[in-house]
Amino acid sequence: MSASPAVVALRPAPTNNLEAFWMPFTANRQFKQAPRLLAGARDMHYVTTDGREILDATSGLWCVNAGHCRPKIVEAIQAQAAELDFAPTFQFGHPKPFELASRLAAMAPTGLDHVFFVNSGSEAVDTALKIALAYHRARGEGQRFRFVGRERGYHGVGFGGVSVGGMVANRKTFGPGLPGVDHLRHTHDLSRNSFTRGLPEHGAELADDLERLVALHGAETIAAVIVEPVAGSTGVLPPPKGYLERLRAICDRHGLLLIFDEVITGYGRLGSAFAADRLGVTPDIMTTAKGVTNGTIPMGAVFASSDIYEAFMQGPENMIELFHGYTYSGHPIACAAALATLDVYQEEGLFERAAALETRWADAIHGLKGLPHVIDIRTIGLVAGVELEPMEGKPTARAFQSMVKAYEDGMMLRVTGDIIAMSPPLIVSEAQIDEIAERLARVLKAID
Ligand SMILES: Cc1ncc(COP(=O)(O)O)c(C=O)c1O
Repeated sequence: MSASPAVVALRPAPTNNLEAFWMPFTANRQFKQAPRLLAGARDMHYVTTDGREILDATSGLWCVNAGHCRPKIVEAIQAQAAELDFAPTFQFGHPKPFELASRLAAMAPTGLDHVFFVNSGSEAVDTALKIALAYHRARGEGQRFRFVGRERGYHGVGFGGVSVGGMVANRKTFGPGLPGVDHLRHTHDLSRNSFTRGLPEHGAELADDLERLVALHGAETIAAVIVEPVAGSTGVLPPPKGYLERLRAICDRHGLLLIFDEVITGYGRLGSAFAADRLGVTPDIMTTAKGVTNGTIPMGAVFASSDIYEAFMQGPENMIELFHGYTYSGHPIACAAALATLDVYQEEGLFERAAALETRWADAIHGLKGLPHVIDIRTIGLVAGVELEPMEGKPTARAFQSMVKAYEDGMMLRVTGDIIAMSPPLIVSEAQIDEIAERLARVLKAID
C-alpha cells in the first residue's frame, strides 16, 4: 500500500552526506572527503558553495565555449520552456529542429547537409556508426559490418563508442564490445614531436595502418573509420601533418566512410567552426555535441552527407527510412538553447576570436617548458595538453594532484592520465590567458 501524502510529509529529511550520488568518471571516495562543489557560474568563472571564484580553464567539460550563463541563451531556454516544453519528433515535428538543422548545415563543411539530433556525444557516435552500417546495407553492401577506430581514441561510453575507442580502461572493464572492430595505431610520438605548436611534423605515414587493416580484413567488410581530428580526452593529440589527408584518400580508394568525431573540436575550439574546416579534410559523417548548446542543455548533432541521406530515401514513402532515434532527439528546449548559442558565437565572432588568440595562448602555455615534471606541451586552437612525467610506480597521481591543487588555488583544470588538458571558453581575455599560465606554473612548482 502506498503511503498517504501526510505520512510522506512527516518523514524526516534524509541527511545528505553526498553518498547517494554515484558520481560519473570520479574518484568518489576522494571527492566525498574533500568535495569540489560549484554553486554558480558567470562568463569565465565558477563560484563554489563556499563563495570562492574558480577560473574555468576547461570550459566545464570542453563544452561552455561562449562562457557561462550567457543571458541570451538563458532567456531562450526560459522562453522555450514556457511555450512548448516537449513535442515528439517521431512522425510529428515542431519548427525548431528544422530551423536549427538548416543553420547547422549552412555552417558545416560543404556537403554535410543533413543533421540527426541526439542528446550527447556518446549517442552521436552510436548514431554515426549505425548510420554507416545502414547506409551500406541500403546500397546492397550489408557485408560491410566492421569498424576501424584508433588507439587512444575516445568516443564516449555507449557500447559502440567504447568498442571503436582505444582507451585501455574501457576495454579492460567492459570487454570486447562490438564484434569486428580493429584499431589504427595512435599518432602520439614524444621522441619526434615533443613541444609542438599546431600539427606535429612527423607521423603522416601512420595513416597507412589503414591499408594494412584493409589488406587483413578485406575492404568489402569495412563500413567506416572513425577518428577524432584532434584527440582530446586522451590527452590533446593533434594529427601529424598530412595524416588526415592520407586517411581520407585510403577511405576513398576502398569505399569506406570516414567519420570525424568532433564532439570536442566542433564549434570554434580550433578557431574554425569545425576541425574539418581548419584541417582541410571533409568526412562523410561528423559527430558533434557539447558546444552546440554551450553545454546548457544536453544535445548532440550528427552531420551526414547528401549521398548518405539520399541512399536512405529510396523505398516506399510510408516506410521509416532509418530505424533509429531518441525520445529527446530535437528537444524544443535544446533546440532553443542551440539557436541562441549559434547567435552568440556569430554575433561575438567567437570562432575568429579563438583563431586570433591562438598565438598568445600557445606562447603562454609553451612558456611553461622547463618547469618541474613537464615532459611535453602541445597546443592547437584554444586547446593545450601539458604532459607530466608520471610518479614512480603511481601513474596518474601527479596530474591528479595538480588538478586538486589548482582547484584549491582557484582554477579548474582537467586531467587525463598524467596529462593536464586545458580548453578555456573562447571569450577568455589575454590577461586571463596569462593568469591561467601563471596559476599552472604555481601548481607545477608546488606538487610532488
Ligand atoms: C570525442 C568525443 N566523443 C564523444 C564524447 C562523449 O560525449 P558525452 O560525454 O556527451 O556522451 C566525448 C566526450 O568528451 C568526446 O570527447
